[in-house]
Amino acid sequence: MLYVTRREVFSASHRLHNESLSSIENRQIYGKCNNPYGHGHNYVLEVVVAGEVDPITGYVIDIKSLKDLIIEQVVSKVDHRHLNYEVDFMKGIIPTTENFAIAIWNQLSGKIPSGKLYSVKLYETENNYVEYKGE
Ligand code: NI
Repeated sequence: MLYVTRREVFSASHRLHNESLSSIENRQIYGKCNNPYGHGHNYVLEVVVAGEVDPITGYVIDIKSLKDLIIEQVVSKVDHRHLNYEVDFMKGIIPTTENFAIAIWNQLSGKIPSGKLYSVKLYETENNYVEYKGE
């Protein structure tokens, strides 16, 4: 089994806010991430596909097809967008890094042309990232 990773970067803004909590609770939980007008991040996304090496092509997956899929399903929909308002697959979801990584997994899951989706790693800052493996 081999693990093939494609990295993509994009910028997006968001606001962490839970409608079912009070303003005070939201500020306590999310701090400056609750700023009413949002704030931005330069996200780094790493998508890992696991599979066997095809004896004919020598590939687990044609990395170009993985790149194209990530661009089509994720980057084109989120880059330079506000995650709370402009992204169909984030509708009604609090855009924490955790929830965003799960939503990205769901965007890609079942669409990988060869091998299988192994993990989605999403960096919100250089020092903070989450990794989701579908369960
Ligand atoms: Ni943030």
